[in-house]
Amino acid sequence: MSTARTIRRFTSEPVDDATLSRCLQAAVWAPSGANAQGWRFVVLRSPEQRAVVAKAAARALEVIEPVYGMSRPAPDDTSRQARNNRATYELHDRAGEFTSVLFAQQHYPTASELLLGGSIFPAMQNFLLAARAQGLGACPTGWASYGGAELLREAVGVPDGWLIAGHVVVGWPRGRHGPLRRRPLSAAVNLDRWDAPADDLLNAPGAPQP
Ligand SMILES: Cc1cc2nc3c(=O)[nH]c(=O)nc-3n(C[C@H](O)[C@H](O)[C@H](O)COP(=O)(O)O)c2cc1C
Repeated sequence: MSTARTIRRFTSEPVDDATLSRCLQAAVWAPSGANAQGWRFVVLRSPEQRAVVAKAAARALEVIEPVYGMSRPAPDDTSRQARNNRATYELHDRAGEFTSVLFAQQHYPTASELLLGGSIFPAMQNFLLAARAQGLGACPTGWASYGGAELLREAVGVPDGWLIAGHVVVGWPRGRHGPLRRRPLSAAVNLDRWDAPADDLLNAPGAPQP
């Protein structure tokens, strides 16, 4: 988990069926409310579907560029920010070359969308971890949101009554996995009360070192 970093640069080697199937198997081992398993994972890899994914990626990029204040970095800029942005642009520019998976969740009207998310995102995370465990790289995307949602719904034939929950690009990494950069655990964890520090718990012998 600590090296399951988002990968945005991939080699041109295709993801083989056996490796991808193992990731999908891991996804269905996830928990879901009432064990309903109201999920569907659609692998997008035909040239036609990849072309739709590429369109969705281009639309997403138009939306996120101003939101994150992103622009294409100058070729001689080697800062962390520039390297990150360069990888992000590469992923979006080459979106039509990769295999990806759409994660959909049946919309039970009795449950809030957030609660329903709790029944699909563990499956997506299992998929991501299985990808990492096998050396595959992956990037969750927002391409099935924004304007891309309608494009992908139509192209895939997602029925009414199903929510598109997520979309993940997979491929063999160009570059290395991990390590992750995250805020310290103490910034996220509290004990009993919203604002109460959890230092005793987090500093116990055997607890992870910050
Ligand atoms: C719901 C979701 C949507 C995301 N959408 C995009 C995206 O559209 N494009 C992209 O390059 N990365 C996307 N990401 C990847 C995040 O930017 C990445 O997970 C985060 O920056 C942490 O990076 P790390 O895994 O390398 O630590 C998305 C991640 C999530 C969870």
